[in-house]
Amino acid sequence: MKRLSAVFLIAVCVLLAAIAPAHSQRPRDVEQQINALLAKMTLAEKLGQLQQLDGEAGGNYRPEHVDLARKGLLGSTLNVRGAAKTNELQRIAVTESRLKIPLIFGFDVIHGYRTIFPIPLAEAASWDPSMAERTAAVAAQEANNAGLHWTFAPMLDIARDPRWGRITEGAGEDPFLGAAFAAARVRGFQGSDYSAPDKLVACAKHWVAYGDAEGGRDYNTTDLSENVLRQIYFPPFKAAVDAGVGTFMSSFNSINGVPASANRFTLTKVLREEWKFDGFVVSDYTSVKELINHGIAANEAEAAAKALNAGVDMEMVSRSYNQYGPRLVEQRQLSLATIDEAVRRILRIKYRLGLFEKPYADETREPGSLLRPESLRLAREAAAHSMVLLKNERNVLPLDKSVKSIAVIGPLADDRRSVLGPWAGDGRDENTVTILAGIKAAAPAQTKVSYAKGCDIKGDSDAGFGEAVALAKESDVALVFVGESDDMGGEAASRSSLDLPGRQMDLAKAIQATGKPTVVVLINSRPLTFGWIADNVPAILVAWMGGSQAGNAIADVLFGDVNPSGKLPVTFPRTVGQVPIYYNHLNTGRPPEAQNKYSSKYIDVPWTPQFPFGYGLSYTTFKVSNLQLSVPRIRVGDKLTVTVEVENTGKRAGDEVVQLYVRDPVASMSRPVKELKGFQRVALQPGEKKRVEFTLTRDALAFWNREMRFVVEPGEFDVMVGSNSQDVLEAKFAVVER
Ligand code: NOJ
Repeated sequence: MKRLSAVFLIAVCVLLAAIAPAHSQRPRDVEQQINALLAKMTLAEKLGQLQQLDGEAGGNYRPEHVDLARKGLLGSTLNVRGAAKTNELQRIAVTESRLKIPLIFGFDVIHGYRTIFPIPLAEAASWDPSMAERTAAVAAQEANNAGLHWTFAPMLDIARDPRWGRITEGAGEDPFLGAAFAAARVRGFQGSDYSAPDKLVACAKHWVAYGDAEGGRDYNTTDLSENVLRQIYFPPFKAAVDAGVGTFMSSFNSINGVPASANRFTLTKVLREEWKFDGFVVSDYTSVKELINHGIAANEAEAAAKALNAGVDMEMVSRSYNQYGPRLVEQRQLSLATIDEAVRRILRIKYRLGLFEKPYADETREPGSLLRPESLRLAREAAAHSMVLLKNERNVLPLDKSVKSIAVIGPLADDRRSVLGPWAGDGRDENTVTILAGIKAAAPAQTKVSYAKGCDIKGDSDAGFGEAVALAKESDVALVFVGESDDMGGEAASRSSLDLPGRQMDLAKAIQATGKPTVVVLINSRPLTFGWIADNVPAILVAWMGGSQAGNAIADVLFGDVNPSGKLPVTFPRTVGQVPIYYNHLNTGRPPEAQNKYSSKYIDVPWTPQFPFGYGLSYTTFKVSNLQLSVPRIRVGDKLTVTVEVENTGKRAGDEVVQLYVRDPVASMSRPVKELKGFQRVALQPGEKKRVEFTLTRDALAFWNREMRFVVEPGEFDVMVGSNSQDVLEAKFAVVER
């Protein structure tokens, strides 16, 4: 009897262990297991855990990986993907290596794995973080089933310079909007437990200030005060930590002369000591070795010591830790305790991922997990939801469904790759709905849809203009798709001009000159400059790079099946010479004044942007009115309620994104002319009116002062609410000492 109950008990335990998510292991248990493992590891095996190596193009592992995994000298790979391939390599690590420590497989799942969603900048234009959470969740589901555990996303770099190609990967220029999207994306990738099937551990990158690269030139230097770092560049990362992000990536740039991959202040003081982050930090690709080029290390050994001592736990691709670690320990430039701590952090995440219990992907699930109909539906919805209507004179849009003929013009209209955008995961051209295909599918049967390329995306030829102009002339409406190809944005794709490349502007002019109703649709991964179009073409839609379903989504918006509701998450300049131009700037001693030459402006171009932050129209119209505050004064630390009414004054149902900004006009340090502190998306039927309520908390009014304390200074504050950062209603309130 006793034996029977013992057997029963064991069976129950085994069953419970099998159904319990690995992450449910108690933290103390995990730390004990790590201690036990650390006690058994040789120095070489410890350093092996700190090494991440790149796979072959196409997702294969390299022969060398097999050898290293067998010897327990490899912690992770990047780019190796596909359940069968990751399983093969994992099997070697967990069955043939001495300590059987699983590998963690990472990949850049930035805006989708196989189903590609809009570029992150576009998703930010939705001002709908819950949508980004859903797209990240699908990306995680596909990637996890393809054998991956870890995405190098979300990218949280605030970017005020559209020359920088990587502006496409983030949420734009604003820390508040950026923080909302940061948290949402982390939640989407990780869920509440990233050991669950269909989840990934996320990576907050690039820590930090990478987006401030001087001149917009990728990998370039940054020099920023600690106040600006804390106020502008840190908040999305802090939001990611608060949302439980498991890993960080240190960036390529230097910050105030200290490279981010050897920066003790950012990596240890802020991240570990202030924010209590207990996951691990991976370097960016060879950024440890690059400390030599930065001029802070004479050789790789010094680079390894500086990076590891500063707080970079895992080295991506370069091998300085592994090659020089033993010597550095011998010479006492690196302590065993530091190495142990880095290993501990990496093992902690491997435990939290459940890799010790479930190291393998279920290969049978992979095919059915990709490109599911519901994933494609979400991709279509997200792309449509991200578009921003910049202009719509005479209601050229939406297209009348009785239109007899449509001219689809431009080099991007039939391009399968460009609409996927940079960093398109494992996205395949053959799964893309082109713009032309989307419009053909959506157009009524009797409507003739014809296509003329007009010109190439690059180059000087206008040989195709004649055909395009002729087509426009014989059609009821001309849709001109211009912008960038996917390789003009993203990493290592900085531009010195924001103009439309090649002859595209001339093409748009030629089509507009036909006199036919013309719509320009921008396919872009960054803000572009297109002043002539802004001044002359009646309808302009920013469609960004919308992903696998871009064509269908564009058709949904052009035909009015979806009413556009996106708002710019970044300022669109008139000319590249205005860059950096962002809405939350300081006032200067001489703010721009039209009649005053000696004020802060240009002599050849207005100081204002072409389109401001937060801007975007709809096929209907909205009115924001009746701004009210709950009380005229509050004490420091108390809350204030701000309400407005928003009304749909047009004839279609639509969403308005109501935005709240705050200004502290007199403080111990200059404060921005306005800062976003709240936003709400409101759905309204024609004629419908709703009250929108915002709560201003202490954090919304606080700032990092000269002593680096996050304080609210008593005094008068301005609050502004409206449809974009420029069109706002204003009120004042006072904050008094407690
Ligand atoms: C370099 C990029 O800067 C980073 O964002 C990316 O995650 C790694 N390469 C890995 O592909």
